Amino acid sequence: MAEVELRNVSKVYKDTVAVDDVSLHIRDREFVALLGPSGCGKTTTLRMLAGFIRPDGGQILIDGHDVTDLPPERRPTAMVFQSYALWPHMTVADNVAFGLRLRKLARNVVEERTARMLDVVGLPGVTKRYPSQLSGGQQQRVALARALVLGPKILLLDEPLSNLDAKLRVRMRDEIRRIQQELQITTVYVTHDQEEALTMADRIAVMNKGVLQQVGDALDIYDRPATAFVADFIGSSNLLSGTLRVAGASAVAEVGTARVPVDADGLADGTAVTVSARPEDMEVLRAPAADAFALEDARLVNFGAYKRLLGRHPAFGQLEARVPKSFRLDNAPVYVRFTRARAFASDEAPADITDKAARDPARNR
Ligand SMILES: Nc1ncnc2c1ncn2[C@@H]1O[C@H](COP(=O)(O)OP(=O)(O)OP(=O)(O)O)[C@@H](O)[C@H]1O
Ligand SMILES: [Mg+2]
Repeated sequence: MAEVELRNVSKVYKDTVAVDDVSLHIRDREFVALLGPSGCGKTTTLRMLAGFIRPDGGQILIDGHDVTDLPPERRPTAMVFQSYALWPHMTVADNVAFGLRLRKLARNVVEERTARMLDVVGLPGVTKRYPSQLSGGQQQRVALARALVLGPKILLLDEPLSNLDAKLRVRMRDEIRRIQQELQITTVYVTHDQEEALTMADRIAVMNKGVLQQVGDALDIYDRPATAFVADFIGSSNLLSGTLRVAGASAVAEVGTARVPVDADGLADGTAVTVSARPEDMEVLRAPAADAFALEDARLVNFGAYKRLLGRHPAFGQLEARVPKSFRLDNAPVYVRFTRARAFASDEAPADITDKAARDPARNR
């Protein structure tokens, strides 16, 4: 049993609020990904959970006990750092066994547990090698084994796959998830990679600028983003400014002369909104039509399984739609219509989102 609770946790550096009043409950055996852009406070949050940094405000509870003032070694947590931090002068086996030896366990117990953990992480046969003789993925597994061998109740991982190549990252993703399930260990996994978060985690906690934006499963976060930031950060979104018009149960946003049907979650008629639509929620037309936007400078980017249609609208900037791989432009005009979108009160959209939307949406996210 190991549940974790952050209660109104904050950490302020001289001129930066790194973590701003974060409250999050992580359930026993749950795998939670802490996701957000660089500098949003993920590592700081994880280090506070591990006990390497003391919060300036709030409390951290593990199984209901306040551990805010406990040092790392008195918490049931183990942390894997992004850099692995293996000891270069020790063999793989010694790296993993180190913590057990510190605890003065009998030699045969140390050997047996070390061997078992190297087995769990899928590393048989390299026990006598040194870290420099291992691949990145193998080093990553050693770091994992070293963290797990002491039997922590909570595993904390800080971007553990960021040094690996794309193929290996995907494989290790599955491996880490398998190990987590096998050991039934409560896990907090820090990443800025949305695909890792979406594929691995039971729930995702999205952070921006120290503030927790939304906590939910992959479907919640993707289909029902709570803020314009989440809508833009997860997947990609077209963001436009408009005015909300509510009539009974249905709502539309007036964007220029077009009317876009939106989910507006209780916003009032007349609210200034940011409209967010996924590239896959756009209809591509060959002739002008009601509520469709003409695309200038249309071009296609090939993603293998599908293509992205990019273009500019004179008033709204870059727009992007997902089209089948057979789609061709043939120098003919194209128009897009939003079939589904969400509206957020415009004051929820920090300036950096608007800046980002103005950039080329061909960004590979
Ligand atoms: N020791 C420190 N002194 C001052 N500011 C710090 C310190 N550590 C972190 N910060 C600042 O706090 C904010 C959050 O940093 P943190 O390392 O938690 O971000 P992160 O989400 O882990 O980012 P990344 O994805 O780049 O690792 C950043 O603005 C960072 O510059
Ligand atoms: Mg970090």
